[in-house]
Amino acid sequence: MGLLAEKRVLLGITGGIAAYKAAELTRLLRASEAQVRVVMTRAATAFVAPLTFQALSGHPVHLDLLDATEESAMGHIALARWADLILIAPASADFMAKLRAGLADDLLSALCLAAETPIALAPAMNRAMWANPATCDNVRCLKSRGFRVFGPAEGEQACGESGVGRLLEPSDILRSAETLFALGGLTGHSVLISAGPTREAIDPVRYIGNRSSGKMGYALARSALAAGARVTLVSGPVSLQAPQGVKLVRVESAAQMYEAVVGLASSHDIYIGAAAVADYSPAKRAERKIKKRDEAISIELTRTRDILAAVAQLSNPPFTVGFAAETDHLEDYAKAKLADKKLDMVAANRVGKPEGGFDSEDNALHVFWRDGEGYLPMAPKSLIATQLIELITEHYAAKNSAQNPG
Ligand code: PMT
Repeated sequence: MGLLAEKRVLLGITGGIAAYKAAELTRLLRASEAQVRVVMTRAATAFVAPLTFQALSGHPVHLDLLDATEESAMGHIALARWADLILIAPASADFMAKLRAGLADDLLSALCLAAETPIALAPAMNRAMWANPATCDNVRCLKSRGFRVFGPAEGEQACGESGVGRLLEPSDILRSAETLFALGGLTGHSVLISAGPTREAIDPVRYIGNRSSGKMGYALARSALAAGARVTLVSGPVSLQAPQGVKLVRVESAAQMYEAVVGLASSHDIYIGAAAVADYSPAKRAERKIKKRDEAISIELTRTRDILAAVAQLSNPPFTVGFAAETDHLEDYAKAKLADKKLDMVAANRVGKPEGGFDSEDNALHVFWRDGEGYLPMAPKSLIATQLIELITEHYAAKNSAQNPG
């Protein structure tokens, strides 16, 4: 899988002759396994019919800000929250001026104003329009606000003139988009991640499990890979495909996860415990299927060993990051875990609600370290993973330089 695999890309298309190239870009994004939703301005539809993008993206194209059905289904706020990346190609001079001014009078500009995810622009326009001081000023201002600008290229233009202003080739736009997910800060370092649930066998057919899907841990593995790390993923039973390039170790029970993680931890620089490990396991596993009886039965449960605490107590522990899944008192319990288990960082998520946590596409994390904290608001797990890996990279580097000054 590539860097865009499973990333949610909202492709914005504004009015200009280069709009036809967005069709090839949509095809390339889909071929890279990105999920694509297309938003077109009305001017863009004068150049290419929305049906083209519906066929290529596999989803209806979003056009209007005040469409009653669209607002109730996936309006501008929902679209802005859905995306890991908003990519506007082609971005016209007029649209960039609107972005700079903060206008929100159509769907695309409104969702850009509401967006908290990165926005990348691939400008396309006549060379004189590109060179115009107003456009230069707008682009400079947008860059200073964090917008990424891909291109434009130099060459023949549709109007017959030649110069800088051509839309980058779709394959170049794709490569530029990929770099946004390639952080690079962990090149040469190794990350061990646990993910998914554990299953504690009661008899040959029954077990105690939990609702973890593995999505959070697998997203972290993908982001750590994108950051350049060598990644080992110790996974409980899930139905996800491991990212290509990750070393996958499959386990089932908490005891097997303990052996795998504690055995591997000393040879890794960072450990992230995203798995939902059972705290209790049946004291005895019945050899045969337990037969139904009239009376109630009870199963004795014993405590499992704490993997995270064991890793943090190794003589040469990796930078150790725990998760805390709490229904209440999130902050207090998370801080207690940080201190009691001697962790470097703890990422707390609220569970038991429809949004976020177990088996959900999105998550929000309150992250604590010894002398600080940070909040990652509700977003797709792929984006939360990228942001958490960035935080971990920063604090891991700071700890290393404090331990090895000079
Ligand atoms: O998998 P998903 O569906 O995407 O859901 C993600 C998630 C909600 C499972 C994930 O974000 C998460 O919160 N993982 C930790 C779940 C958990 O078991 O939390 P806890 O508060 O019970 O445990 C705290 C920490 O101790 C965790 O890092 C856990 O891995 C670790 N632990 C727990 C028990 C044990 N025996 N050994 C451990 O290492």
